[in-house]
Amino acid sequence: MTHVIRRKSKAEPAPATTLFLFGAHGDLVKRLLVPALYNLKRNGLLGDGLRIIGVDHNAISDEGFAQKLEDFIRGEMAGKGDHTLDPAVWSKLAKGISYVQGDFLDDSTYQALAAKIADSGTGNAVFYLATAPRFFSEVARRLGAAGLLEETPEAFRRVVIEKPFGSDLQTAEALNACLLKVMTEKQIYRIDHYLGKETVQNILVSRFSNSLFEAFWNNHYIDHVQITAAETVGVETRGSFYEHTGALRDMVPNHLFQLLAMVAMEPPAAFGADAVRGEKAKVVGAIRPWTIEEARANSVRGQYAEGQIDGKALPGYRQEDKVAPDSNTETYVALKVMIDNWRWVGVPFYLRTGKRMSVRDTEIVICFKPAPYAQFRDTEVDELQPTYLRIQIQPNEGMWFDLLAKRPGQALKMDNIELGFAYKDFFEMQPSTGYETLIYDCLTGDQTLFQRADNIENGWRAVQPFLDAWQQDSSVQSYAAGENGPKAGEELLTRDGRVWHRLG
Ligand code: BG6
Repeated sequence: MTHVIRRKSKAEPAPATTLFLFGAHGDLVKRLLVPALYNLKRNGLLGDGLRIIGVDHNAISDEGFAQKLEDFIRGEMAGKGDHTLDPAVWSKLAKGISYVQGDFLDDSTYQALAAKIADSGTGNAVFYLATAPRFFSEVARRLGAAGLLEETPEAFRRVVIEKPFGSDLQTAEALNACLLKVMTEKQIYRIDHYLGKETVQNILVSRFSNSLFEAFWNNHYIDHVQITAAETVGVETRGSFYEHTGALRDMVPNHLFQLLAMVAMEPPAAFGADAVRGEKAKVVGAIRPWTIEEARANSVRGQYAEGQIDGKALPGYRQEDKVAPDSNTETYVALKVMIDNWRWVGVPFYLRTGKRMSVRDTEIVICFKPAPYAQFRDTEVDELQPTYLRIQIQPNEGMWFDLLAKRPGQALKMDNIELGFAYKDFFEMQPSTGYETLIYDCLTGDQTLFQRADNIENGWRAVQPFLDAWQQDSSVQSYAAGENGPKAGEELLTRDGRVWHRLG
């Protein structure tokens, strides 16, 4: 029998390509991208024709750049189980590493890149913009002007960018327009790193390759859905970025809406990029646009104050580096959204994300409606505990059904029991930075896990009423570090007769 899941058949090394890493001295390159390339190389998924070229303004030699990456990765791996850098694998990868010193806004940089492609032996090139977002449009425009985005039947040219894709609907549309002036949608790979996570990809596989899910995956059986991304970290060194961003922009139109789309989308006609992305764009586009009043009533903004996590005293957000002492930026947001389509009408989706919460936990909880009739002596339907399916994205990857079962004994008593699947119990987990699949898919031309322009714009369209409402009233509710958000975040559910699933 043939399986249509496209990843099954993928084991071929990616084609010869010149991969330019703009922002070569930044954290993304050394912490995530180059280690992911190393992991792909170790797994035989990169051919010898891959050349990695760092592009940045600092001066460094080719060897110096390769050495710097090697030292960093060695340091990162030190002391982490038996994962050591294999010198044979690294030296093969390092053979293809070089560096171009140049200003992103200077045309001569692009001439140097053209020269690199010309002597690479392949016309294939990927330009990975691991830069601050303010460079996206400018770099794309210059790549276009230098003719570097012109494809031929033999050679592809691709551009990778990672969120933020704008900071509201208008800026997102402007960025898309600017990119699409110099390249086609097929050349753009917009990364949302949540789609690189195995458990996120598994949502589609579980839903669409096990027929039992489809039987109850609708408003007849599902009462509501909760999507949570709780973090224990604060803003760390990113105060100045976060001050202008906040939890809503940072997490909702991108990561949380991707999770929502995976849960709520219709089955695609095929597991190809167009079909999958089309369904995702449709469901995000079906999120009801709240009026300003509704957006205010269906959202909660919180900000962490001083507190403790695991006995460690932590400062409040306003005391963090590069944060205004009277800042009203939200570090927590909880929202209620409705999806106006046949499958989900009447099923609220509650979303929350926050920094400095009690535990790290990214999870989706599908809460089922109670049984319609209490069969058992002395039980009332409203006494039955809710049952649910919990899909945990991190840290414990897996899924668990929480169901009711009879407690042994003569009395008829019920208890919640768990049926579960943890990734680590079934599969050998490979060391991964989460970027391996995304990089491999970009090199092999599979856009399924990348965001299309309409998906991005639909996300911002759903978020815009909250931004507009908060412009009029930007007050935030305080919660102590180590608490799971402000009280109002709980009330968003209790007023509907529901409660958040306990974290952790
Ligand atoms: C990033 C946000 O996109 O995602 C960060 O900018 C956040 O603020 C991070 O901490 C969360 O990612 P993960 O993979 O740790 O859940």
